[in-house]
Amino acid sequence: MKEKLQAIADQARAEISAAKTQDALKQVQIRYLGKKGAMTSVLRGMGQLPPEERPLVGSLANKIRDELTALFAERQNELRQEERLAQMAKERLDVTLPGRPLELGYLHPLTQVMDEIAEIFLGMGFTVAEGPEVETDYYNFEALNLPKDHPAREMQDSFYFTPDMLLRTHTSPVQVHTMEKMAPQVPVRIIAPGKVYRRDDDATHSPMFHQVEGLVIDHHISLADLKGTLLLFAQQMFGPHQQVRLRPSFFPFTEPSAEVDITCMVCNGKGCRTCKDTGWIEILGSGMVHPRVLEMSGYDPEEYTGFAFGMGVERIAMLKYGVDDLRLFFLNDLRLARQFR
Ligand code: DAH
Repeated sequence: MKEKLQAIADQARAEISAAKTQDALKQVQIRYLGKKGAMTSVLRGMGQLPPEERPLVGSLANKIRDELTALFAERQNELRQEERLAQMAKERLDVTLPGRPLELGYLHPLTQVMDEIAEIFLGMGFTVAEGPEVETDYYNFEALNLPKDHPAREMQDSFYFTPDMLLRTHTSPVQVHTMEKMAPQVPVRIIAPGKVYRRDDDATHSPMFHQVEGLVIDHHISLADLKGTLLLFAQQMFGPHQQVRLRPSFFPFTEPSAEVDITCMVCNGKGCRTCKDTGWIEILGSGMVHPRVLEMSGYDPEEYTGFAFGMGVERIAMLKYGVDDLRLFFLNDLRLARQFR
């Protein structure tokens, strides 16, 4: 039995040094030291030996196993090293190649435009207010003088979670949150930038878009304050030659209401395709806060007046940068964003 073990050991040593790959070596290891390997099957015959010989054979077997295990580890290291060198020779790694530059991040053009709008109003003494994007019917419609059956709700079809809870269709509910928080303190002077949602989807409408709301309440606020504020805004945003024009309109939460046009920045008011030859571009809706809206949120309409406005950020960004399809803003195509860093 000793001879048998020695023979196995000799054969294993030879095969270990002959193995050319790590895989082949693994196979040899399994064949000799594995559960069903050569060593194990010889030792299974131990039972037939006279008892006094067993310890001797046992210790020889252990010695051989230890030796072979060490040989396997050593050969394994050699092979690993050889394979690594072979791999490196094949790859021809050029450590002198210049590194790939890491690109700095930058803000989305819409974020930049919103920041710019906010900056202009902050300069006029406004602060930034925020409200939730998931709104109740009360804040989105009811408190803005749009009762349940009001036809003006039709233009703002939204995404409903329950009959009473929806994605806000405009930033105007932030007016209500702000008034509830502040009433009856004045002055109220806030803008509210944020995301809004509507059931709309084409080249100039997206189901999610951005607005900046504005609200001012104080003693003696008049339409002249509204116009002056928006004129200053237009001039800072688009240039000092801007003029502002108010056109009568209707919003349930303002009375009177006006659409606000500014000088077409493409043709400087001469008339072109962008402004449909009118020289004017509509940029927002506005008006004097409706007395009922003031009253519902805690301001006495006999004592206070206010103005409000709401502008679409995508529209302003499209005008400012000459982008002709609003959906470009939401395609996540870095080629668009890179133009605005
Ligand atoms: N909330 C209106 C909309 O999304 C825009 C608007 C119009 C806001 C007049 C106002 C306003 O604050 O006074 O269509």
